[in-house]
Amino acid sequence: MTRQYSRITGTGSYLPPRRLTNADLVAELAAQGVETSDDWIVERTGIRARHFADPGVSCSDLGVLAAQKALEAAGLSAQDIDLIIVATSTPDMVFPSAACILQNKLGANGCPAFDVQAVCSGFVYALTVADAMIRTGTATKALVIGAEVFSRILDFTDRTTCVLFGDGAGAVVLEASDTPGILASDLHADGKHVGILCVPGQVSGGVVQGHALLKMDGQAVFKLAVGVLEDAARATLAKAGKTQDDIDWLVPHQANIRIMQGTAKRLKLPLDKVIVTVDQHGNTSAASIPLALDVGVRSGKIKKGDTLMLEGVGGGFTWGAVLLNL
Ligand code: ACO
Repeated sequence: MTRQYSRITGTGSYLPPRRLTNADLVAELAAQGVETSDDWIVERTGIRARHFADPGVSCSDLGVLAAQKALEAAGLSAQDIDLIIVATSTPDMVFPSAACILQNKLGANGCPAFDVQAVCSGFVYALTVADAMIRTGTATKALVIGAEVFSRILDFTDRTTCVLFGDGAGAVVLEASDTPGILASDLHADGKHVGILCVPGQVSGGVVQGHALLKMDGQAVFKLAVGVLEDAARATLAKAGKTQDDIDWLVPHQANIRIMQGTAKRLKLPLDKVIVTVDQHGNTSAASIPLALDVGVRSGKIKKGDTLMLEGVGGGFTWGAVLLNL
């Protein structure tokens, strides 16, 4: 029997052990002649530290460890899973997908597995796809994972971008349910903004053509981000017949504390209702929302039954939000 709803039954996350404070990164960059400072990074972004994966550690390596923790929290084993979606922009290979590689590492062989590429909005896209597949009976127990090794695509000679990002993974188990977990979602993309945040390279003839490192017009991203995040949150609330007063926790993409403060202000949400991990993780792109969610749950802030607004914005330009009862 197809159940009407989907609900998160477990969360997990994983950060690679190599942690660089701003002071560590400032020193490493200074050795290469790139000048920045802890003060600049903290004041403009709120970031104080980030984690970087060691060479040879891939997206699926981080993702599988987060997935195992989410399975444990849900009381399930890998064999119970009948759908795996990985949101990432830094997969292990051109193909196959990070989801297929992760599936094999997890031992969940046989179930459908694929990647979703929507950059920093990837997790809200993936969660919405998994919710739709559960509602139509295509899946009953899904793993939805955001995993990134953004350090691999950073230009460490460009101080305007390399101080912003980190590596990590977060995961949720989403199960079919008779009671509503996911209440509504709202997704968007506008490809006319491709150039403001991109890695404009491709593999062709066995070599990388173009520039295979991240480029960003930070101010253009900033201006767009706050407005679209408010719009997506309001549209999601309207679809669910709720108001911002119903939100217990905002779990936003962790790009920059100023974007998060701006969004909370527009939604008239006090900052103590916002889960903040950007200070310790930096921007982990598609991993940042499930990482923040897991930190919120395991710290005891987010409790079962709470109403959460998840929202993301990123390259594409893509943006979206998911409202859910935990
Ligand atoms: N250290 C020291 N100085 C720096 C650094 C740095 N790391 N980076 C830039 N500067 C300098 C610039 O060169 C510039 O100097 P100038 O005035 O002499 O030319 C000065 O700082 C100001 O630069 P701006 O780009 O104007 O700084 P701004 O206040 O806009 O902050 C930032 C830059 C943090 C990127 C901001 O635009 C921002 O937050 N944008 C949002 C983008 C974002 O968060 N992207 C993440 C990925 S997208 C996503 O996840 C949604």
